[in-house]
Amino acid sequence: MKILVTGGAGYIGSHTCVELLNRGMEVVVIDNLVNSSAKSLERVRQITGKSLEFYQKDVRDRAALDEIFDKHDINCVIHFAGLKAVGESVTMPLEYYDNNLYSTVILAEAMRDHGVKNIVFSSSATVYSADNTVPLKESSKTGMCTNPYGWTKYMNEQILRDSAKAIDDWSVVLLRYFNPIGAHSSGLIGEDPRGVPNNLMPYISQVAVGRRDHLNVFGNDYDTHDGTGVRDYIHVVDLARGHVAAIEYMQTHRGESVFNLGTGTGYSVLDMVHAFERVTGKKVPYEIVARRPGDIGTVYASPDKSAELLGWKAQYGLDEMCRDTWAWQSKNPMGYGE
Ligand code: NAD
Ligand code: UD1
Repeated sequence: MKILVTGGAGYIGSHTCVELLNRGMEVVVIDNLVNSSAKSLERVRQITGKSLEFYQKDVRDRAALDEIFDKHDINCVIHFAGLKAVGESVTMPLEYYDNNLYSTVILAEAMRDHGVKNIVFSSSATVYSADNTVPLKESSKTGMCTNPYGWTKYMNEQILRDSAKAIDDWSVVLLRYFNPIGAHSSGLIGEDPRGVPNNLMPYISQVAVGRRDHLNVFGNDYDTHDGTGVRDYIHVVDLARGHVAAIEYMQTHRGESVFNLGTGTGYSVLDMVHAFERVTGKKVPYEIVARRPGDIGTVYASPDKSAELLGWKAQYGLDEMCRDTWAWQSKNPMGYGE
């Protein structure tokens, strides 16, 4: 079975390529490298001992998609390509809507015209409204997104949901990720944010490796066990395997489906700092600062539907998430840039 992976050179995409190749699937990647390095794909080849095809092209380039679909008999597309920095989306909304929505529309049109019927989409817990109770279920309320990035996920879900209704025999799986962290245990691939990391775990690991002074903890007055924000962190390899499960599910299910990919367990910011220190033996100095605008106290998933219908459950715990984050960061202090 041949899979087209858009954004396959990125953090989650590269880990998913490894899992697909390990399952004996063939992989074609399209990525314009706007937020990644082709080195990640060399490392994927190194880890798996298998080859994959890479097109350095933009997903909005219809001619490039036509070439790929003409040349390869694609069973399923996994659509990771997109811009993902929440703060940047607030200052550059048009670039986010252009890249994230237009790419999905062009891709879906090309799939329809070439008779490719299966697509897995990278959605996010950000589509859930802030006024839900936890755990978040797939049936929890969505919308009222707080930034353009979140709206692009919400709108892309709708674009694909409508397409699944209209195009004969289509299957769309929307995967709502919680907080992916960690790396492949080899330390060869991992998350390589450009500039100052927005997210917690890359920030912690850059402090530990000496690239930054200390962590700013955004608020300690939330209604949580230690006052700091609680999230559902999931090992990126578990997340990648969720995509393999989704592809298998699609072989027998048509129409639209939506699944959470989370563990169902929440950890606070200080839980993460302490676990990282314990597992790696590195100190992570921190300071408590004001809350980050738009943040809420507690977010975690109900993983029950994924367990029941996809037969997928996260296998790795916090220690493995910290161990593998450190394997990547310590072997590649400057990411792929070194
Ligand atoms: P990433 O930036 O590492 O990967 C995205 C990849 O897409 C990059 O390699 C980038 O170069 C490529 N890309 C972007 N626009 C493109 C275009 N127009 N044409 C071709 N390639 C393009 O990000 P990631 O963390 O691996 O995220 C993958 C997907 O998962 C994204 O859609 C993201 O929004 C979603 N997601 C990520 C998280 C997270 O916390 N990492 C959480 C929820 C959802
Ligand atoms: C991020 C995304 C959100 C997405 C979600 C799941 C941002 C701003 N938001 O949010 O759109 O839906 O992942 O993929 O990227 N924290 C600190 N100091 C830091 C960084 C973070 O204290 O330097 C805290 C935050 O306040 C939060 C927790 O750590 O309580 C996790 O933050 P982060 O990694 O940004 O994830 P989300 O807030 O869940």
